[in-house]
Amino acid sequence: MQKVASGKIKAKSADLLDEFNASISFDKELYKEDIEGSIAHVKMLASQNIIDDSAKEKIIDGLNSIKSEIERGEFLFDIKDEDIHMAIENRLTSLIGDDAKRMHTARSRNDQVALDFRLYVLRKAKELAKLLLLLEETLLSIEEVHTGTLLPGMTHLQHAQPINFAYHLLAYSSMFKRDIERFASLIKRNSISPIGCAALAGTPYDTDRELEAKLLGFKSVSVNCLDSVSDRDFALEILFNISVLMMHISRLSEELILWSSSEFGFIELSDEYSTSSSIMPQKKNPDVPELLRGKTGRAYGNLLSLLTVMKGLPLAYNKDMQEDKEGVFDSVKTAKISIKILNEALKTMSVKKEAMLNATKVGHLSATDLADYLTKKLGYPFRDAYKLTGEIVAYADENGKDVSELGLEELKKFDENIKEDILDTLKLENSMNARDSQGGTSEKSTKKQIDYFKKWLDTFSI
Ligand code: ARG
Repeated sequence: MQKVASGKIKAKSADLLDEFNASISFDKELYKEDIEGSIAHVKMLASQNIIDDSAKEKIIDGLNSIKSEIERGEFLFDIKDEDIHMAIENRLTSLIGDDAKRMHTARSRNDQVALDFRLYVLRKAKELAKLLLLLEETLLSIEEVHTGTLLPGMTHLQHAQPINFAYHLLAYSSMFKRDIERFASLIKRNSISPIGCAALAGTPYDTDRELEAKLLGFKSVSVNCLDSVSDRDFALEILFNISVLMMHISRLSEELILWSSSEFGFIELSDEYSTSSSIMPQKKNPDVPELLRGKTGRAYGNLLSLLTVMKGLPLAYNKDMQEDKEGVFDSVKTAKISIKILNEALKTMSVKKEAMLNATKVGHLSATDLADYLTKKLGYPFRDAYKLTGEIVAYADENGKDVSELGLEELKKFDENIKEDILDTLKLENSMNARDSQGGTSEKSTKKQIDYFKKWLDTFSI
């Protein structure tokens, strides 16, 4: 087998060059897209009378049997073929003979690889969005039963105000919804066919690029061929989208790790999705969220790496661009398994309502409500109310109580106009439900948010 028959290079390539130059070891991932692209291409060539129907049929039959060979694991991937494009073409030649040599009319590996890779990215974006939709369903099913489960909402990782667990998770539902929409918009924006652009300047054959695009399911044909074979912004988009997604996954993972610690005890990950220590028999480790947090690093790395590969390249194709694929394959695989395992870890975890509730009794979570009471009911300017509340909090601390546990008499010592209704105001559940503004944490508002995501899930399609 040989790479590409060339007039300029006479000597056989050095083995070291083959090893360095070949992309077959990883771009075989694109075999399906490559075969589909070639089938569409020869259909177009035949419909434009550039090749005859009998050659077209033979080529298509040959390509289909190569596809089965690959899928049965019988195809011999040889480094001497350099890449998946040449490997398939060379195999086709050995299968059907001279007709195979007509397949590459009016195209180049430059538009071929741009096509294969773009098709791959569009498909994977869709698969990732679909997996994320399942994750959204899982989150909703947990949220539905926890609109009344109190836990401390935090800022600076310090207890701040009481919220409910559903409300907390709904923040992630919102993030993942945007992630899904980012994949959907990537697909919309990048459904542009590069095939037919050939090496860089188009082709002198009377081709029909619209037909090829239609056969391959693209929405449109690229406008400028030089751009189509040169840019990899579509690949950067999926790397960016995955990076943002992994950042969201990582933040949720960090919370799962914290929440499953003895200090928090808010959740327990299932045995199925936990690991143990090789030396400490009492341990149950949150390896799943830790790895999810860790894998975020490689997603960022892959994005940075391709941005760097592309930044100084003159138009059009340069071999540097062969470095575009491995990072994308890696990020896609990482994101897929990450979404799947996060989904399972969430589905199987148990929520410790008692521990969450107990934690709300620490940190004077209804102190803001006390200040608001002094302002709204007793007419204090907010800054003065804030100051007096600070004094009451200090008193509570000295007496080993939470402000929500103070009695009316104790509160009256600070201002005799304080009435009995303060006791309800300071109750943690009431504090949560008082935050009834749009998008707030009250149970009513939380339920509205759940409805919003349910409706969105029912109507969204990709
Ligand atoms: N293996 C190459 C890549 O992945 C395919 C394109 C090769 N084109 C070329 N002119 N050498 O980028």
